[in-house]
Amino acid sequence: MVGDTRIPLGPSPSKIGGILSMRPKNLKTRIFIDSGDPGETAKIMDMLGFLDGQTTNPTLISRNPEAQRILTERGFSKNEIFYFYRKTVEEISRMIPKGSVSVEVYADKSTTAEEMLEQGREMFAWIPNAHIKFPATAEGLKAAERAVMEGMRINMTLCFTQEQAAAVYAATKGARKGNVFVSPFVGRLDDLGENGMNLAENIIRMYKEGDGHVEVLTASIRSTDHLLYALSIGSDIITAPFKVLKEWAEKGMPLPENSYNYRPELKEIPYKKTDLSRNWKEFVFSHTLLDKGIERFSNDWNSLIKNK
Ligand code: E4P
Repeated sequence: MVGDTRIPLGPSPSKIGGILSMRPKNLKTRIFIDSGDPGETAKIMDMLGFLDGQTTNPTLISRNPEAQRILTERGFSKNEIFYFYRKTVEEISRMIPKGSVSVEVYADKSTTAEEMLEQGREMFAWIPNAHIKFPATAEGLKAAERAVMEGMRINMTLCFTQEQAAAVYAATKGARKGNVFVSPFVGRLDDLGENGMNLAENIIRMYKEGDGHVEVLTASIRSTDHLLYALSIGSDIITAPFKVLKEWAEKGMPLPENSYNYRPELKEIPYKKTDLSRNWKEFVFSHTLLDKGIERFSNDWNSLIKNK
């Protein structure tokens, strides 16, 4: 197992099946695994020889093999499932103590900012390297604004529009660089026939006009094409499922050429010139995938709860 997993300078050697593996020399983007299973964390660290962090969410926790086993046997109570989540992220955090671990609050369509913030405070105390995930909704942004003032590190999730990312920027002004991530969900936009990578590109371009306090974490990655394109556009961070990182490792962790192209048949999402100095409440939050995303996360979480 690699101890210090976030080594920005030079290669990090580690042994994989007797072969010496290195972090690619010119890889500036941090690589996270998108998983709720510490078993996958361990395996991918062995395969890559490094890992900069992990993102979890209610769906991924519901797919954790141990959670599934308990669900089949008896299910969880509300308290037990939070306890299970805590134990899981503690285990992950011990494996990547210098990395970042995203922990997501429970939010359905009626969860208030205050309720999210309360959960966020508690989860932030679970491990020393947490980023708390709030949905990029009006309530989530309200919670985020307060959270950064309290010094919490956050990851704004379910981002489907440039406006949402602009609101994240505006609501978290003054936060330290490294404390705020925004997660454009590229794969779910692709599923609608739109070029999700355009959204990530547009946010990166828009943030170049700003002070750099929000980092772009390209999420909802489905393929090595997504991964390579996110590298080519200079995403600060990429989170990818085990399967994609494994495939990338097996190919020898290639880095993209400058001309790397990505599924041009998808409908283009055009760039919108945006004034980042506006009040975050002036930006629009609606997107059909945003409502669906909240619903999916809360349903998957609630599916684990059998005993009140
Ligand atoms: C990570 O932070 C996101 O929750 C995740 O990448 C979503 O991926 P999906 O669209 O495959 O569920």
